[in-house]
Amino acid sequence: MNLVLTGSTSGIGWEKVKGLYPFFDKMILPVRNLEKAKSLLSKLPDQRKIHLVEMDLVDMKSVEKAAKQIASEFSKIDVLINNAGGMFPAGLRTKDGLDQSFAVNHLGPFILTKTLLPNLLAAKGKVIYVSSEAHRIAKVTKADLGLLRSPNTINAYSNVKLYNILMSRYLVNQYKNQGLTSYSLHPGAVRTAFGSDSGPVAKALIRATQLFFISPKKGAETSIFLATEPSEKLVNGAYYVRKKAKSPTKIGMDIELGKNLWNFSEEILIKILS
Ligand SMILES: NC(=O)c1ccc[n+]([C@@H]2O[C@H](COP(=O)([O-])OP(=O)(O)OC[C@H]3O[C@@H](n4cnc5c(N)ncnc54)[C@H](OP(=O)(O)O)[C@@H]3O)[C@@H](O)[C@H]2O)c1
Repeated sequence: MNLVLTGSTSGIGWEKVKGLYPFFDKMILPVRNLEKAKSLLSKLPDQRKIHLVEMDLVDMKSVEKAAKQIASEFSKIDVLINNAGGMFPAGLRTKDGLDQSFAVNHLGPFILTKTLLPNLLAAKGKVIYVSSEAHRIAKVTKADLGLLRSPNTINAYSNVKLYNILMSRYLVNQYKNQGLTSYSLHPGAVRTAFGSDSGPVAKALIRATQLFFISPKKGAETSIFLATEPSEKLVNGAYYVRKKAKSPTKIGMDIELGKNLWNFSEEILIKILS
């Protein structure tokens, strides 16, 4: 069994590496900082299981390169976990001119997932998105799906976490007949480095409430459950919280919006990657 997991070098992601290690033959870990990853992963007993690939989710060409490399090296991928993410100040632009929250949490994972689709389909695989309860306060402006006019950090973050749910459901809608399954989840409010790149208000809010947050190990539990539980025992396309399927917001179930977002993402990528 082959796993692709992003964001393996910190917080919840590192706990997933340790928790999923016994279940997979190959753990393919796209990371932005190879040195950090090598030092952390050297703690694992069998290094032959681990395949590091350099990938920076703010840079779409880097994601495309990493995704193509993985797709050509591993013909079957059983599980892809889009775990890497973060909250960035609204107005922050990547070198491709994208909103940074949109790039890291949505468009980068979009390229990775789309490029790996044939490999996932070959394995009748699973795609897992680490979303958030923050999606409940998302306010989608259909004319600004790229979030270039997002008013603040929280707005951008809540929207991209809604996008995670929309993409998971869209994948199921399009590919369930070919055996693909997909899930999204909220990990809980977890004590990690999350929020360290955000603006002063979001940082202050996280600092003030962090005392009540759960441990990264606990925060990894729902992802590990979804990655290891047989698909027949899970609800395809569902949004999970504490290992239970839970309704996302009504807009999170809007297949038409998911389709618009998918098409919009493809259109931007034609411009960026050509
Ligand atoms: N913590 C929470 O309370 C909470 C709640 C709901 C949802 N989530 C979601 O859970 C996921 C994991 O977050 P976390 O709490 O574990 O946060 P974290 O400790 O900050 O870890 C984030 C991971 O994403 C990676 N990453 C960030 N930007 C990247 C980029 N440009 N390219 C490649 N990798 C990148 C980081 O790499 P480096 O190690 O190189 O920094 C790190 O491994 C995120 O999607 C987050 O939105 C978290």
